[in-house]
Amino acid sequence: MKFFIDTANLEEIKKAYRIGILAGVTTNPSLVAKEGVKFEERIAEICQAVPHVESVSAEVTPDALTADEMIAQAEELIKINGGDEKVTIKLPMTLAGLEACRYLADKGVKTNVTLIFTVNQALLAARAGATYVSPFLGRLDDISEDGVQLVSKIVELFRIQNLESQIIAASIRHPDHVTRVAMAGAHISTVPYSVIEQLSKHPLTDQGLEKFAADWEKANNK
Ligand code: E4P
Repeated sequence: MKFFIDTANLEEIKKAYRIGILAGVTTNPSLVAKEGVKFEERIAEICQAVPHVESVSAEVTPDALTADEMIAQAEELIKINGGDEKVTIKLPMTLAGLEACRYLADKGVKTNVTLIFTVNQALLAARAGATYVSPFLGRLDDISEDGVQLVSKIVELFRIQNLESQIIAASIRHPDHVTRVAMAGAHISTVPYSVIEQLSKHPLTDQGLEKFAADWEKANNK
């Protein structure tokens, strides 16, 4: 399973890229709004900060409701950073979003259909040519449904139906989500930087480091 980072914060993106684990970046209107920056400029900055990743998702704005409006935005977004092929158009899971997805897929543009909460939505997005489909497991858990189970079912369905779209487990809240979607066979999980930090930690690692430091100090300051 590959890692994408789910943020529009440039410093977090740069830190995760330096670790060498990053295969992509996802943003959404809420994440961009939190940064208080101009959307297209931030997408360009992200593309420049992570030259070797496969995908940087840029979502059409919430006021684009028709396929034509989404396509018009996508046509501007794909010019970002000199027509950077990493730029992936993130589209909502609506009929208009699917129509735009099919149009863009046929033009060879990468797409990510977002806000997926059912297996059928994932199936539609895959058949509309989505490069990526993004089931939101955390938001399902928030309403007492099983988000990881949804990801497992989509993995199984795509295997049975030979569907090529990659599954991005999104709305990840904690390290156990990461473990479980990896075990379920998700291609990618997109995680906040705080979760990447959590993934790297264990109390016994910290204790071990403290003990090594104390023993080293004792041995070298006799
Ligand atoms: C994915 O692409 C979304 O940006 C994201 O994972 C949403 O997560 P949230 O439920 O934490 O807002």
